[in-house]
Amino acid sequence: MLVKIYGASLNGIDAIKITIEVDISRGIRFFLVGLPDSAVKESQQRIESAFRSFNFKWPGKRIVINMAPADTRKEGSSYDLPIAVGILAADNQICENRAGSFLIMGELSLDGSVKPVRGVLPIAFKAYEEGFNGVIVPYDNASEAAVIKGLDVYGVKNLGEVTDILNGSGTISPFPHTISPGVTSNHEDHDFSDVKGQEGVKRAMEVAAAGMHNILMVGPPGSGKSMIARRLPTILPLLDSAESIETTKIHSVAGKLGRDSGLIVKRPFRSPHNSITPTALSGGGVHPQPGEISLAHNGVLFLDELPEFNRSSLELLRQPLEDRKISVSRARYAIDFPAGFMLVAGMNPCPCGYYSHPDKPCVCSPGQVFRYLNRISGPLLDRIDLHIEVVPVAYGKLSCSSSAESSLGIRERVIKARDIQRERFKEIKGVHSNAQMNNRMLNKFAYPDKAGSAILKSAMDKLGLSARAYHRILKVSRTIADLEGAGGIEAHHIAEAVQYRTLDRSDRSM
Ligand SMILES: Nc1ncnc2c1ncn2[C@@H]1O[C@H](COP(=O)(O)OP(=O)(O)OP(=O)(O)O)[C@@H](O)[C@H]1O
Ligand SMILES: [Mg+2]
Repeated sequence: MLVKIYGASLNGIDAIKITIEVDISRGIRFFLVGLPDSAVKESQQRIESAFRSFNFKWPGKRIVINMAPADTRKEGSSYDLPIAVGILAADNQICENRAGSFLIMGELSLDGSVKPVRGVLPIAFKAYEEGFNGVIVPYDNASEAAVIKGLDVYGVKNLGEVTDILNGSGTISPFPHTISPGVTSNHEDHDFSDVKGQEGVKRAMEVAAAGMHNILMVGPPGSGKSMIARRLPTILPLLDSAESIETTKIHSVAGKLGRDSGLIVKRPFRSPHNSITPTALSGGGVHPQPGEISLAHNGVLFLDELPEFNRSSLELLRQPLEDRKISVSRARYAIDFPAGFMLVAGMNPCPCGYYSHPDKPCVCSPGQVFRYLNRISGPLLDRIDLHIEVVPVAYGKLSCSSSAESSLGIRERVIKARDIQRERFKEIKGVHSNAQMNNRMLNKFAYPDKAGSAILKSAMDKLGLSARAYHRILKVSRTIADLEGAGGIEAHHIAEAVQYRTLDRSDRSM
């Protein structure tokens, strides 16, 4: 008898429907065809053992399993469950007629329990798109799939529960639809009001958040760089529902969602250590998985101690900073993962760290300081619109009890400036923020008035700024004007933006 069961395979952060045809006839051999990898081929052993645990019998006949489409590689152990169901149905050990209305995925262990798999959210999405009534997935992944309305999600703990559902004999009901909690903050346990003083740095963060500009903080140890970076998500707009789903899909494919996670509703903040490998940063691996830059999609990627990162890791940031995605090519696949993040980098001003410290002496020679600052390559620096010096606040300010402005107030201004940009770029596909403007758009939207041009020219001459600094200054001035609700770019907008180009000065001194 021939039956068809449906599963899914991951392609980037989307899923492809896989049809698993099982035919049982007279004979004795087991055939598995349709580009399965070795983990799929090994499923026979796991399934046989799982059958024994639940008193099903392995058909002593010829079993042919075909996985289609044949040109899609089937990887991993998550096909165990649909294959097992297919064999039971083809051998008439369970009711076959309901099995085709579900998309089924799960890994079996030898005792027949169902173990979690990666990418259940995109798989459930596919099921919904293809008109399936529901999905049968591991219990630990059910909350991921349950974010989709109009799909019956069954979370199962073992093979017995699956057969009960298909026979209509069990007591398992669909997992309740996860309603996204109404969030009001991107990270409620952090707030900008915790940061004392540092008004200039906070202002730079507000400008960066408003225009989606990447930002580099340079300062001695303990000056608060990490503390400030961690609070950036709190002044970014909340995720909208499309962003939320996209972010959750990425984390689902990476297998990073917990049992009760549901939809990710807060902007991600990722801060990988500087010893991270290029693959862990960009994504890849035997089964393609998103890396840190994709996990930071729609959020913030914080690279602390930037010069300590491996050079090749830093260089691979260039494509995603430009295209908001990363193309991962390996021998067996080439896929794109989304990677649209705000980059926040931190670094010390010199090897000992104390070059700009108000009290502690720096022991580095001028040559060492110069070389340290030059460790960040030009093309990477080119993609960072704001550089800001962070000087530790004095003890008096730290102990002061008066509280600073909260993240909520700052976020309101950021959202207003973002709304202006959305209107500005509504005709231009793929561009949403000032940071994404190319030179042609700059000519159109960021033209300074006469006084502004004069200041810009004198700053370029006096500080010896490079040509690349010129365009960054115009871009950032546009955002500063947007924060003020000003249509034109005036002298004071340019004057503020010039301050954010410390590393472009010809002497490169902070
Ligand atoms: N402006 C500030 N207001 C309140 N606390 C601060 C401030 N600056 C520093 N701190 C305190 O100092 C601690 C150290 O700051 P943080 O770790 O952010 O420094 P850093 O610049 O990242 O240092 P490093 O270069 O060593 O990584 C913070 O956890 C915080 O408690
Ligand atoms: Mg730090």
